[in-house]
This record gives sequence, C-alpha cells and structure tokens, in this order.
Amino acid sequence: MKDFLIAPSILSADFARLGEEVANVLAAGADVVHFDVMDNHYVPNLTIGPMVCEALRNYGIKAPIDVHLMVKPVDRIVPDFAKAGASIITFHPEASEHVDRTLGLIKDSGCQAGLVFNPATPLHYLDYVMDKLDVILLMSVNPGFGGQSFIPGTLDKLRQVRQRIIDSGRDIRLEIDGGVKVDNIGEIAAAGADMFVAGSAIFGKPDYQAVIDAMRSELAK
Ligand code: DX5
Ligand code: ZN
Repeated sequence: MKDFLIAPSILSADFARLGEEVANVLAAGADVVHFDVMDNHYVPNLTIGPMVCEALRNYGIKAPIDVHLMVKPVDRIVPDFAKAGASIITFHPEASEHVDRTLGLIKDSGCQAGLVFNPATPLHYLDYVMDKLDVILLMSVNPGFGGQSFIPGTLDKLRQVRQRIIDSGRDIRLEIDGGVKVDNIGEIAAAGADMFVAGSAIFGKPDYQAVIDAMRSELAK
C-alpha cells in the first residue's frame, strides 16, 4: 500500500466535463477520486448521487472512488453507491441511527467503510467500532462547501486519532478533508494523516500535475 494517497475532490471540478476532469486528474498522478455527496438536509448544499458515480465507471474510470456521504438518512443510499462502483464509503456517525449497522451494510456491500468527524464531533464514536473501520476521515472545515480554510485545531485531533490507530494495531487510513494545500500538507502529514483530499487546491489551478507533484515533494520532506 502507498504511504500517502492524494484524493482530489471533484466538488471543485468542472461538472460539465466531469469524466474528462477525473481522467485528467488521475493522469496527473492522483490516487483516489473523492466524491462528495451532499443532500441539502444534512449539509446546506446539493451535489451528485449514484448515477454520476456509475457514469464515471462507464466512462472508464478505474481508480478507487471514495464516496463521502454528507446525507441523512445514510443507509438507504449505501447499496446504490456500492452497485454504482464505489470503492470506499464514509459517513458522518451523527447522521446514522445505528452506526454499527451502517458500517456492516457498507462492508457487506463489498466496499471499504469509514467514519467522518466534523471539526466539533467528538471521537467517542470510535470507541466500539475500530475493528470495522478501513478509513477514518477528519473534516478540517465544516462540511458543505469547497474552498474553505483549514481549521488549525484539526492537527491535534489528527494526532489523537493517529495514536488510536496505532493502539488498535489495525491498518486504518487517516484521511483529512478541507483546506488542504501545498503549503500545509507537510504539517498535516506530520500530525498523522496519510490520505489527503484536496479540491480547490488542485482543480483551481490549470496544471493539476504541477500541484500534485508539489504536494508529493512536500510529503517526501
Ligand atoms: C467539503 C467537502 C470537501 C471539499 C474540500 O464538505 O467534503 O471534500 O470539497 O474542498 P477544499 O479542498 O477546496 O477545501
Ligand atoms: Zn469530502
């Protein structure tokens, strides 16, 4: 497994040319496609669903698709995303009635499963489910929009979660989402993250490869 994964958030891509945008960012060296699903209920924005995920697969996208569900309720959309070609499905525990059940549903559908923590969501949701997690995603902005600034308190939360992963002895990815840029990715990695979502930092620049290369050279320091 790669040490560090770069996962561009297609929230900042040009939706009118989505297939091409995803193909381009993968050709530029991205590892994973981060797919933000917003429902105008759990979060104040509305994006894309399983049909778009399936369309990307039909377009020929082979890379892992990391579906970040910002929806409530969670369970009924999980099988649809699994059928549509999702590789990883993460959800916000406070949006699910039964966190353990939702994790089981994701695993049973053949996907990797993860929990997402908003900046003010406590970590106690991890207490009894570490054995079911493939990914833990910490939000470093409040969910709903791209282009926000990284909340510095997330660094300490990353260190706490990294320690919990070490204590568990399990191979769990620690993903960070929100305000990740070339100039802060190094300190975010030092705090324990190993999977980096970046939307505006990548899609906001004309040369995706230049940004991804710059991120990798920060990570190599
Ligand atoms: C926010 C989304 C993020 C967002 C990140 O709710 O979950 O994935 O697209 O965008 P940037 O990298 O621009 O902060
Ligand atoms: Zn996201």
